[in-house]
Amino acid sequence: MRAHRTITPSVLYFGTPVAVVSSSNADGSTNLAPISSFWALGNLLVIGLGATGHTAANLRQRPQLVLNLPEEHQWEPIERLGRLTGAHPVPADKPADTRHAADKFAAAGWSPLAATTVAPARVAELAVHLEARVTALHEETGGLAVAHARCSAVHVDAPLTVAGTSHVDPLAWRPLIYSFRHYFALGRRRGIAGRAETQH
Ligand SMILES: Cc1cc2nc3c(=O)[nH]c(=O)nc-3n(C[C@H](O)[C@H](O)[C@H](O)COP(=O)(O)O)c2cc1C
Repeated sequence: MRAHRTITPSVLYFGTPVAVVSSSNADGSTNLAPISSFWALGNLLVIGLGATGHTAANLRQRPQLVLNLPEEHQWEPIERLGRLTGAHPVPADKPADTRHAADKFAAAGWSPLAATTVAPARVAELAVHLEARVTALHEETGGLAVAHARCSAVHVDAPLTVAGTSHVDPLAWRPLIYSFRHYFALGRRRGIAGRAETQH
């Protein structure tokens, strides 16, 4: 028998992959921001954002983005980027140690790579790029915004795919997981679903 306690955690981050959102600044350069609040329903991406952040501001004006997915070893530049904002001045509701940075690629030590269907640049060093166009941006109470975006192109580092197919190899793909503000890797595979497209 489990002994459930009723608690009031400050966040509900029970464990999701990390992504880095590319969005277009007014001058045509690309802003980068790490997020963990996203998921996919078919080719529809649902993305949770702080409403005062620079990413939300960019998407309201220029509704195109790339979700760049890091692998498990890439948590340090992610953590660095999380303390930076493209907004100037720094919004009052950001954590006290947040600083403005105009060039997030330089801050992370990464390089831009042109996207194929949207304006913001991809991150060359990250293995997966999901290009998408925002179809709705819902302003929620509590300083939150939720973007819906339709995926228009998927780019995956070739060794993470199954040759000759459009399948991602789940044994090769090692996402970075964020759980209650700690970074994790996946553990070993526990099973294979009946609908899986790869069986090895
Ligand atoms: C691992 C990680 C996950 C994060 N998840 C989110 C998220 O899901 N949504 C969000 O708006 N901010 C998230 N943040 C915080 C933003 O990265 C941070 O507010 C950053 O300053 C946003 O930059 P911008 O203002 O240039 O958009 C996360 C940060 C880290 C390090």
